[in-house]
Amino acid sequence: MEIKNYIRQIPKAELHLHIEGTFEPELMFEIAGRNGVKLKYDSVEELKTAYKFNNLQDFLDIYYAGTSSLQKKKDFYDLTWAYLEKANEQNIVHTEIMFDPQAHTSRGISFSTIIEGIHEALEDAKEKFGVTSKLIMSFLRHLDEKSAFETLEMSKDYKQWITAVGLDSSEVGHPPSKFKNVFEKAKEEGFRVVAHAGEEGPPEYVWEAVNLLEVDRIDHGNRSLEDDKLVETLVEKKIPLTVCPLSNVKLRNVDKIENHPIKTMLNKGLFATVNSDDPAYFGGYVNENYIAVTDALNLSGNDIFTLAKNSIEASFLEEERKQEILRDLNDFRS
Ligand code: ADE
Ligand code: ZN
Repeated sequence: MEIKNYIRQIPKAELHLHIEGTFEPELMFEIAGRNGVKLKYDSVEELKTAYKFNNLQDFLDIYYAGTSSLQKKKDFYDLTWAYLEKANEQNIVHTEIMFDPQAHTSRGISFSTIIEGIHEALEDAKEKFGVTSKLIMSFLRHLDEKSAFETLEMSKDYKQWITAVGLDSSEVGHPPSKFKNVFEKAKEEGFRVVAHAGEEGPPEYVWEAVNLLEVDRIDHGNRSLEDDKLVETLVEKKIPLTVCPLSNVKLRNVDKIENHPIKTMLNKGLFATVNSDDPAYFGGYVNENYIAVTDALNLSGNDIFTLAKNSIEASFLEEERKQEILRDLNDFRS
């Protein structure tokens, strides 16, 4: 089988996806139109020309501005549904979706509006496509710990819909240690734990995520490779990395896709996975990420199989569903 078709056909999980980062310009204009929200750009084409980033912050400024049209439960439903249709087309059979409540509550949108819209779409996708999902509530690290605690409190009535808490937004200057207390509380309440670390920030931030927050997974983690002892620890503890190749190139954390470290990570025994991060902004969903690294780094069918298997094993799924997907994947062993 041609390798691109192999990538498209195998069952995969996505573990690093910001729902706000799936907001395609066409849908953004549609929702802004029906809500009477005036966007900064006059057309889809004009908006797309703004998608050139020198670093993470350049991107985040546009990403947060892009959320302004999301006001009603139906808007969050439509946003999530559009992603789930795409996921289903790409044979993503399980997805773990991050959402940024503070990006919306700070604009006066209620927590219930956000989560009810997202949750309903997840339920419908399970029924219509059989796609399973988990929800990860991410705290914005450029805001203070108090705001994160308030967000954790707001989520109380919806705990049964949320599997994990996470940490995202501007990394440098906002180390994981800033959120040690709120993560401790979240863990006490039974949440699983992930954090972005080592995307732009130093290996020290990955150490903090592992040792202070006691994360189940690291989001990105690329800069771990600068520290041999850290790599050894991540391998030993089998801590998964949710790597996002196209994001890394668009945000200039990797200069070109040919220099992406995903193959090096696998060679070192790291528990690496391939994900899309913010596909509407970075030029591709999961399959495009697999294809980009496969073309650039000459990955084998076996590498691709390992990455897909890792994505299922590193998920927060119940054992029974994990085994079901792994059995389906095994039919594709190359
Ligand atoms: N929020 C959305 N995408 C992000 C990324 N790549 N890094 C940090 N925060 C984000
Ligand atoms: Zn991310």
